Amino acid sequence: MEALKPLEPTPTTTAISITFAAALLLFTIGFILPTFRQWYRLRHVPGPFLNSITSLVYARRTLKDGSAQYVYDLCKKYGPLVRVTPNIVVFSDAQTFRYVCSPKANYTKGLWFEFSRWDLERWSCIAMRDNESRKERKRRLIPAWSGPGLAMMEERVDARVREFVGLVERKYVSTAPGEGVKPMEFGHRAQFFTLDVATGVTFGKPFGFMERDGDVNRYLEITEVMLPMFGILGALPQLVYAMHAWPLNKLMPGAGDKVGFGVLMKFAEDEVQKRLQPGDKNSELDLIRAYLKNGIEPEDVVQECITLVVAGSETTSVVLRMALLALLTTPEAYRKLQAEVDAYYNKANHKRDDSDVISYADAKELKYLWAVIRETMRVWPNGAGLSFSKQVPDTGDTIHGYYLPKGTEIAQCMLGVTRDKALFGPDVEIWRPERWLEATPERADEMWAAVELGFSTGKYICLGKQVALMELGKWFTEIFGDYDIAPVNNVSPLKLVDGVTWLSSNFWIRFTRRN
Ligand code: HEM
Repeated sequence: MEALKPLEPTPTTTAISITFAAALLLFTIGFILPTFRQWYRLRHVPGPFLNSITSLVYARRTLKDGSAQYVYDLCKKYGPLVRVTPNIVVFSDAQTFRYVCSPKANYTKGLWFEFSRWDLERWSCIAMRDNESRKERKRRLIPAWSGPGLAMMEERVDARVREFVGLVERKYVSTAPGEGVKPMEFGHRAQFFTLDVATGVTFGKPFGFMERDGDVNRYLEITEVMLPMFGILGALPQLVYAMHAWPLNKLMPGAGDKVGFGVLMKFAEDEVQKRLQPGDKNSELDLIRAYLKNGIEPEDVVQECITLVVAGSETTSVVLRMALLALLTTPEAYRKLQAEVDAYYNKANHKRDDSDVISYADAKELKYLWAVIRETMRVWPNGAGLSFSKQVPDTGDTIHGYYLPKGTEIAQCMLGVTRDKALFGPDVEIWRPERWLEATPERADEMWAAVELGFSTGKYICLGKQVALMELGKWFTEIFGDYDIAPVNNVSPLKLVDGVTWLSSNFWIRFTRRN
């Protein structure tokens, strides 16, 4: 066969070669060099190689199966500091957590937090990344959460607990075998309760999720779409720049919307305005009035109101759901909690049909109840995926012997913190409230100090911590005093995905009245 003669260059082949060379050059400048630079600055931190060059590994994993267990597995495999994406490293110990959140470390909030900006002209405390501005804002927020403010919140929580009982009585008491079963999907009802608490303490009156026994203004529907996105954004926080720029910023929720967050914004704006009217005679204490009194500008109060509703609802619902699931699947614990609640009502001569809800002070005395709540927050901590990340200051820092240049984002592996065998015992993977009662008081305090990091600490500490604990303590005492609860689907009581938070669905339960 005749050999092919090499082609003479023609204008066409030359053009193709030049185009190819230019594309290669652009690719190198636009992709390979930045990727190399990114990889190089943290090349000494252990972790899977692919994760060190692209965030897509983590993002894909989050979309597929959730992220908490994945990050936890990486920490177990690679040690105390792991590179999970090109610019995010993760630690899994309580000591580093406290250090990063302490004022002296001078870290700032990570880029992730900018997703909690609803109005791009204003800042809420949770989204603020500048340390000095947020310190000043938090100083003005804190007083509203203690003394008379906390007493007001307790009254509002009581009212919502009574409303939950009212909802069960109205629609969900199964009177077997006569009228049959009236199942409740508790995943959503837990949120109705926490959303009504959060809106009740903020605006003085709840949005009415429980009253309607349904979504209000499609708020939940929209949140459910957004929550998995928060997981992805954990890996790719740079997306915030795109989302906050034209044209995507036009798609952000706004006070003119008919559904979702926009309605919440409009509601918050109206409520703040009402309290600013000279004719406003109502002086009933609520968070809006307290914030305005502490000198926060009205437009910023609106931002704080929205934060409160978002921060206070899904977080507390997770503990309600997971504690109930754990109790339903651990008969010994279920019986012990019920016995403790009964003993409380018998001792205090507190009739179950009494409209009084247990006081927070009394609830704190129920030792098994708190063991249940603490153990639940230990096994299913909030913020278990790559969320709440912080940024290394301009000076850089060394963590666990690894130098981290400025701008590196650092996050906690919550499962690593709350499943530390040295602190909690060899059976850390098991939900067992007894561990809290078996421990010496000093050890139990140390254990709680690690688990309560779920509420963050130092300059970032959750403002609603006491309200959340109050809700949980009161809800379980009231409901366990009044009802027996059982799952409807014994094979698979609920569907769970571990993301930024523990997303569950299809949690069907049935209530029967106790005699
Ligand atoms: C079990 C329930 C809860 C958990 C685990 C939780 C957790 C957290 C965490 C981790 C943060 C800090 C994030 C950070 O800046 O790094 C936070 C902040 C916050 N939480 Fe909670 N939270 C819970 C319930 C609540 C409730 C019930 C409310 C209000 C009714 C609330 C209101 C807030 C507010 C206002 C902030 C912002 C504080 C700031 O900007 O410094 N939280 N929460």
